[in-house]
Amino acid sequence: MHNSILLNTLKGVETSRPPVWFMRQAGRVLPSYLDLRSRYSFWQLMKDPGLASKVTLLPVDDLGVDAAILFSDILVIPYAMGMGLDFTDEGPKFEVPLIETADPLERLSPDPSKLEYIYRAIDETVKSRPPGIPLIGFAGAPFTVMCYMLEGLSSKKEFRDAVAFIYNNISLTEKITGIVTDLTIEYAEKQISHGIDVFQLFDTHAGVLPFDFYKRMFLPAVERISAAVRDKGVPFIFFPKGIGAGLEEIKPELCDFAGIDWQTPIEKARKMVHKGVGLQGNFDPRILFAGRPTIEKELEKYLEFGRREKNWIFNLGHGFMPGVPFENARFVVDWVKSANWNRR
Ligand code: CP3
Repeated sequence: MHNSILLNTLKGVETSRPPVWFMRQAGRVLPSYLDLRSRYSFWQLMKDPGLASKVTLLPVDDLGVDAAILFSDILVIPYAMGMGLDFTDEGPKFEVPLIETADPLERLSPDPSKLEYIYRAIDETVKSRPPGIPLIGFAGAPFTVMCYMLEGLSSKKEFRDAVAFIYNNISLTEKITGIVTDLTIEYAEKQISHGIDVFQLFDTHAGVLPFDFYKRMFLPAVERISAAVRDKGVPFIFFPKGIGAGLEEIKPELCDFAGIDWQTPIEKARKMVHKGVGLQGNFDPRILFAGRPTIEKELEKYLEFGRREKNWIFNLGHGFMPGVPFENARFVVDWVKSANWNRR
């Protein structure tokens, strides 16, 4: 694909401004999505390739972002391993959490054919996207996916039970991590063979663990997924939310770009992460609920950084939150596209 500002930035080609896209841009903020969602369930939207590709492309039209991200969910991996999954109003819920089963390994039977609908959605999106718009594929990192698998639902207590299980069952955890990682690699490779241009791995709950423990138990799995993706020539973005001091250990061997959460100032992140790794982020998604002058003032704080740093993708420090005013999201895209980045 030629002339994609996102792909150029990922490849280290200098661009006139930073590219912009948002985590969770497809399924939360857009009136056009909410309208579809009032007529179809989340599973229906995901499983119908025509609808899924339509939702994938909505933000490109409605917000003007520089890339589309596949409309799917990180929990399709445990679903494809036989774990019954419901998306309720309170968030995702597995029928039987792994910590409640006597033999978790027995419960997991990976069936790659249960991911086929996603490849159809990719085919459809690649066919119908506007020129120059790359498609970002994604998966959840094994740790974050396992938090949900073990505990069964989004936890309000920092995955206390899942993490206690992990501390208590190191070798069993390693085995489950291996199973999740193997299927995730197969999934990523298939997404690539169907035409995604970029791959992002979401480790939303990475910050729940002490970094040294996370590094020993779960970073090797991230390295395996990264190697598989990059072997195919596809750029790899890793988003380990909340790892704090762990940013110092993000090296080019691990990822091409690192997503930065809003807690870490972007200038500080730039000093901590290895120079050979680009950055993505890290606008606080809650600023989007503030007034226009405040949003603009906060955006202007990125000007100096973006004038100097060419290997940076504008994004949020975590996904859009439900209820975000659409016009404010649109304002941010317009602002990034028209600001004076003074690059050439
Ligand atoms: O939003 C998009 O841009 C589309 C793709 C997408 C979804 N989930 C759709 C979705 C992506 C990239 C994800 C990633 C995801 N899913 C993460 C990592 C990123 C993050 O935000 O931290 C996590 C932790 C999940 C697990 C998950 N799925 C949760 C916690 C929830 C419930 C709350 C919510 O709204 O996200 C989901 C459901 C889900 N995934 C929805 C959507 C559009 C809402 C379903 C509905 O409409 O009821």
